[in-house]
Amino acid sequence: MQAAGRDECSLQIDKTPAHELLARRHRQPISVGFLQLGIFIGLICCLGCVRSRQDEEPVKLVFKHPRLLSREEPLHTLLDQFRHAHPHIQVQEEVLPSSSDQQHLFYGTNLEAGASDFDVFALDVIWAPEFRRAGWLYELTPYLGPDGLADFLAGPVQTVTHEGRVYAVPWFLDAGVLYYRRDLLDKYGLAPPHTLAELTQTAQLILAKESNPRLTGFVWQGKQYEGLVCVALELIRAYGGEVLDAHGNLLLSQPAAVAGIRALRAFIAPDRISPPLVTTADEETARYIFARGDAIFMRNWPYAWALLAAEDSPLRGRVGVIALPGSATHPGVPTLGGWHLAINRFSPHPDLAWELVSFLTSVEAQRRLAAAGGLKPTRVAIYSDPHARQDDPSLALFFPLLQAARPRPVTPFYLMFSQVLQGEFSAAVTGIKPVEVALHDAEQQLKRILALDVPEERHAQAPTN
Ligand code: GLC
Repeated sequence: MQAAGRDECSLQIDKTPAHELLARRHRQPISVGFLQLGIFIGLICCLGCVRSRQDEEPVKLVFKHPRLLSREEPLHTLLDQFRHAHPHIQVQEEVLPSSSDQQHLFYGTNLEAGASDFDVFALDVIWAPEFRRAGWLYELTPYLGPDGLADFLAGPVQTVTHEGRVYAVPWFLDAGVLYYRRDLLDKYGLAPPHTLAELTQTAQLILAKESNPRLTGFVWQGKQYEGLVCVALELIRAYGGEVLDAHGNLLLSQPAAVAGIRALRAFIAPDRISPPLVTTADEETARYIFARGDAIFMRNWPYAWALLAAEDSPLRGRVGVIALPGSATHPGVPTLGGWHLAINRFSPHPDLAWELVSFLTSVEAQRRLAAAGGLKPTRVAIYSDPHARQDDPSLALFFPLLQAARPRPVTPFYLMFSQVLQGEFSAAVTGIKPVEVALHDAEQQLKRILALDVPEERHAQAPTN
């Protein structure tokens, strides 16, 4: 329609060349001449307007995010909705591998070099302090206002806030949970386990009776990567241990940490409820084994629930989910995981980028990602909203499990910490090093990181938003 209108406009103008208009102006009374000149200028302006709106290229906004472990269609639908409502913004999705470690490598290298070819990106909860300190995150406080994150769960908010300023918006939440084969436990009249000892006994009992030769007791993330740090921390905390106390003292050689990592190793040997291949497993490896019906228990994130309960899942209706087991003295403590959305500090379009961040973290978007994708919202109100609970009944089930989650150490040096822990935890669970030796070695390396002479925060020198 607009194109036709433009053609009509140009025809009229072509028929009335400027010299003719001037000649007529001399022949006609002055008022008529002015009227015609007014119309002429109006037409030119109108044509200019139509042309400039049509010629104006939509702004390209690049959105980088990991390959989601949950269903991806709901995110694509949301992005299409956004494109439809914002024709002046052309959102281009660029998908990175799902591994947190690989993504960190990508962002670290590119942002260090000041890359401005992506605008919005998803951040693992553990990166926010490091990226903020490096000056890579656009400050969002002016967009959000002072209470902008009041509706969000406290755990993830803590990771994106520094001295009252906000640097990312929590997008979806993760916490370690225990999946179990409800049908198998029912078959033998066994209750879901609340302690690690009960988990081992239950698995051993069922393994002794079931005939499936591939059946194993417990699968978890034991590969040398970030997922192993999450699992190992859960075991250490189940015995009341920690990596660091509130004063920054290292606690890895304490008996609680040793007991936790010993318990993790014990699943493989001597208890043999976890297969040795668990030391190469990530989230999806564990889920495939469990979803095939070849494991009794699985430690994983909430995303697996929607996939296991899907219509095409052979385990539909045969799986339960509960809090991670604790030890005889302490309850289980899930590790807090999840992803935020942030704006690249070097993006040339922060205002448009904010429109996308704000849309994707809105109540509506989070509800859709929960109902259709199984991702757990970061906004508290969604969990008690009857409509949201109707769309995704697992919200009620997961809420207490998510609320109990504890963050990994919140420090700008987290990645250095994690790299040390990944290597030493892996050496301990594979049996390459005795547990005490691995933890002692980890502690020595972490001491050196803590003693590093840390340069001034770069973001303080970067130009303000
Ligand atoms: C999940 C969590 C993330 C964690 C990662 C480890 O993606 O959300 O926080 O670092 O798993 O594999």
